[in-house]
Amino acid sequence: MESLKGKTAVITGSGRRAGLGEAIAQRLAKAGVNIVISDIGAPKDAATGAEHIGSTDEMESIASDLREMGVKVSTQVCDVRSLESVRGLANHAVSEHGSLDIWVNNAGIGYIMKPLLDVTEEDWRAVIDVNLTGAFFGVKAAAEIMTKQGKGGRIINIASQAAKSGFPHAQAYTSSKHGLVGLVRSAAVELGGDDITVNNVCPNHVTTGLGAWQNEYFAKVVGADSVEDYMKAMAARIPMGRPGLPEDTANAVAWLCSDEAKYITAESMNVSGGEEPH
Ligand SMILES: NC(=O)c1ccc[n+]([C@@H]2O[C@H](COP(=O)([O-])OP(=O)(O)OC[C@H]3O[C@@H](n4cnc5c(N)ncnc54)[C@H](O)[C@@H]3O)[C@@H](O)[C@H]2O)c1
Repeated sequence: MESLKGKTAVITGSGRRAGLGEAIAQRLAKAGVNIVISDIGAPKDAATGAEHIGSTDEMESIASDLREMGVKVSTQVCDVRSLESVRGLANHAVSEHGSLDIWVNNAGIGYIMKPLLDVTEEDWRAVIDVNLTGAFFGVKAAAEIMTKQGKGGRIINIASQAAKSGFPHAQAYTSSKHGLVGLVRSAAVELGGDDITVNNVCPNHVTTGLGAWQNEYFAKVVGADSVEDYMKAMAARIPMGRPGLPEDTANAVAWLCSDEAKYITAESMNVSGGEEPH
């Protein structure tokens, strides 16, 4: 990971405690990467309720922990549903840190879950807007800067096992994550000549803030006696005998950012303990 020292990474949706974004920030900071912690910061509408999002206070507290690791850390509020806001975040990285080397599209929502027949147009658009359009804006804004800088770069989306397989009550979520497979394949073709790699990391279930909400929800959907029973059944069907941990995803991201992965692009890499074979 020596090659990562002194680089600058932007991680969207990284302002929520115990989320994959925080774990990725910690792993990259450990490798000497300067970090921009970014999140929506405050509720804006029905799709971004306070109980589901990273607040500005949380962003600052995560940043303060990272600074103790000896890297430069800044924070920037960004709503990934707005291209202007995402471009502002990319420009912030350059003005505050002097460079933009790594961009991680981690912001996502997975708490609008309903049976197919109950999904409204509004539900569908809300999920696609954050998970797919938001990632496209990230790829575009990062590429605009990285191609000008002329020193390559790394763009990574946190997709999901739902980028490869279908799940109940998750039409929009699954479709948004499958869409990221097409996004990296097409962006990688155009950006390869600029030495910019574009990949997805596809975790299986992880008990983050979002993951904990899903445990409660799906335990009810499958009629489990308790959340604990639901989690036991989940662990039993995973070849490695447990769901994912935030650090499993973070380690995969760090490796994809390193020089060792410089020829790997257009991939959607599973981090699922063998649960997802596709
Ligand atoms: N937890 C899992 O089981 C799991 C599995 C596979 C993939 N993922 C994906 O990993 C990513 C992180 O999820 P997590 O589990 O850490 O959940 P999380 O809720 O902790 O993180 C998601 C973050 O996205 C932010 N966000 C939501 N809407 C936003 C917007 N419009 N603009 C900017 N930020 C916004 C939230 O504030 C939050 O901080 C998501 O893309 C999720 O789909 C999660």
